[in-house]
This record gives sequence, structure tokens and C-alpha cells, in this order.
Amino acid sequence: MPLTPELVDRCRRQFPALSRNQDGRPVVYLDGPAGTQVPQRVIDAVSDYLAHHNANQCGRFAAGRETDAMMTAAHEAVADLFGADDPDTVAFGPNMTTLTFAFSRALGRTWHAGDEVLVTRLDHDANITPWVRAAADAGATVRLVEIHREDCTLDLDDLRSKLSERTRLVAVGCASNSVGSINPVGDICRWAHQAGAEVFLDAVHFAPHDLVDVKEFGCDYLACSAYKFFGPHVGILWGRRERLEELPAYKVRPASDSLPSKWMTGTQNHEGIAGVLATVEYLAEIGRAVSRDDSLSRREALREGYAAIREYEGGLLQRLLAGLAKIEGVRVYGITDEGRLHERLPTVSLTHARHTPAELAEQLGRRGIFTWHGNYYALCLTEALGLEPHGMLRLGLVHYNTADEVDRVLAALREIGES
Ligand SMILES: Cc1ncc(COP(=O)(O)O)c(C=O)c1O
Repeated sequence: MPLTPELVDRCRRQFPALSRNQDGRPVVYLDGPAGTQVPQRVIDAVSDYLAHHNANQCGRFAAGRETDAMMTAAHEAVADLFGADDPDTVAFGPNMTTLTFAFSRALGRTWHAGDEVLVTRLDHDANITPWVRAAADAGATVRLVEIHREDCTLDLDDLRSKLSERTRLVAVGCASNSVGSINPVGDICRWAHQAGAEVFLDAVHFAPHDLVDVKEFGCDYLACSAYKFFGPHVGILWGRRERLEELPAYKVRPASDSLPSKWMTGTQNHEGIAGVLATVEYLAEIGRAVSRDDSLSRREALREGYAAIREYEGGLLQRLLAGLAKIEGVRVYGITDEGRLHERLPTVSLTHARHTPAELAEQLGRRGIFTWHGNYYALCLTEALGLEPHGMLRLGLVHYNTADEVDRVLAALREIGES
């Protein structure tokens, strides 16, 4: 069942931020890839935790036990979100970048001179520099996988040609936060494993749009960030149990050596994690609403919800790309071919012949349309496209956006172009 306009409206009403007005008109949030808005139930969960259950973990008193129970439930919820059987293989932390730096230092301790690590030109720098630094510490070599510049997709032949028995890790994103290209991560994991390498997936940009499935992907590790999928600022790391158990985590001595605590350095952002639990429930609720079936398991509901989200967002993407193609001076990067839209997410980056991305973002911002500009830390990509230092303008659609909002940004871009 698709996400009907009525259901989209029902979702929208749950987000207080979406009722914000500027100059008498509702604001249009197209800045989702930099951070999405948050539904009321997530805000309530955060404040309820702080108001009534705030304590450290393992306290022998009511609030301590309530915190432990909430944390257990949050691990279970994210395991459902990722399709993982084992909630203890989910670790929380401050954000994806910090978790990845910490994890890369640990993994890097198992590498040696002569080992190789593959990173890609399409990735956010948070899935590049941690590996570059860890490889440098270990004396290992980093190899950069190229892209097809004409459609900003990963060059899979190049990736395969760079895989060898020396490769220890392939670090790759599920989808580009800049141009939306989806990578065939299932194939990549298979090829990497055939070569004896592990795979670390960055699912930060993928998770607001489509179902993460660590089993189907076949990855060894996966990182994510809840503030990109309608939750609070909390990072998440998943890994295979045997690897998380044997790898040497950087941790203080009194902290537990068992999972998941081993990878969760210091005291956690409990209120944020309470919010993550509510966020997963919000996404599952969409699945129950579209399928009109309250008996679905949370994982099944998430599957239904994401399928509906993906279909709905596909329609918005088509409308946006068709409109942009008619605006003189606009150049869109990435896949634009109507027959290939399933290979990308609704995150659209563009340049304009007469306005810099910063000027466009500023002009749109004055009209109450919130967008992003620059390289969004996907620096290797903007460098390859010759777009530094200005980068691109990014219009990021998520399921709370509407066709009217797409039309508004198109009209605004036309107007700015004519000014
Ligand atoms: C694809 C991608 N990976 C990683 C990150 C870094 O995430 P965090 O802000 O949680 O460190 C971002 C943030 O923009 C991103 O878009």
C-alpha cells in the first residue's frame, strides 16, 4: 500500500517543526540529509525520560532499573530496524563520525604493512578519513575507488579490480548523501568476502529512505545516525558478534568487556536513546498504517513502512527532476534518467549557471525554503566533479515533504534564475 496524501498528512501533523511559518507561509524543509525533523512522540520520549527516569545504568533503585530497561528496549528496537537477530550487537554513541573513528582505531590494530583498505570517492568523509588514519597508523595502504563522473555512480569495475588478497576492508556507503546514488552493497559485500576482506557500510544517508538489512546486505559492520532518520542526535554502530567480541576496543578498565557495553564508551545520551526507541516505533507505525495491520511484528511493519516511503518519495523525486530539467541554467548531478530512478534516493544536487550554491541557499532561505550548500563533507566527490570550493545546492526530500513543496522550490528557483 502506498503512502497516500492522507497518510502523509497524518505523518506531517506529528512533526511540530512542520507548522513553522515564515512571512505567513509554511517553511519547506529540504535539509533532511543534514538532519531531519522529529515527531512529537520522539520529543515526548526524550522529555519523559529526563523528567521521570533519569539515572545512570545499573543503579539499584527504580530510575536506574527503568534506564536499564529502556536501554534494552532501544537495543532491541534498533536490531529490528537493522534486521539484526542480536540486540547486543548494536552499540550507541555520540554520532556516526565519532563511532567510526573509535572503531577504525580498533580495527586498524589488526592491520599490518602491505594490507590494503578500499574507500570510495562517492563517500562522506566520515567513511574515508577514519580509515585513512587507521591505515596510516598500521602502515597499510589506502586505495580510492573511482566513480563514473557522468552519473555519479560507483565504478564497480574499478572496485573489483582493486580488491585482492591484500584487501582487509572495504568502506562504502549504502547511498550518497550528495547525489543520492544507491550502491549495490549486497554485491560489494559478496565480492569483498570472496577476496577475504571485510565490509564497513555507512548507512547514514540510506536509513531515512529505505530498509537497512544487515543480513541481506551481508556486511560485517554498519554505522548510522538517528538524527538523519527522524530521531535525536545519537550515533549507532552494528557489527558481527564474533568480531565485536574479539576486536580490541579502546575502553576504560572498569567498563564491561561484554557486548554491547564494550563499544559504548562512557555514559550514554540516555534521553537521546529513549528518543531513538520512539523513532523506530514511529517508522513501524507508518508500516502498520499503510498495511492496515496492527498484528505485524515491528520488523515486518518497518519493511512495509519503508516500501511505502520509498514509493512515495520516488514520485516526488520524479516531479522534482522533471521540473529542474525545464529550468534554464540548472545542472543536476547524478542519475536523472527516468528509467533509472530506482538506483537513487531523492537527494538532488545541482549548480546554477549564474548563482553560487550559497547564493541559491540564501535566496531560498529568505523564501522559507531550507536547503543545503557546499560539499556536505562528500569532499572527494565535489573535488572529482571540479566543484570546489563552492560545491552544489542540495534539495533533500523525505516522506514528510509534499508535491506542493516540490512545486514551491521549483517556482522559487525559476524566480531566482530570472532575477
Ligand atoms: C552519508 C553520511 N555519512 C556520515 C555522516 C556523519 O554522520 P554524523 O553527523 O552522525 O557523524 C553523514 C552526515 O552528514 C552522512 O550524511
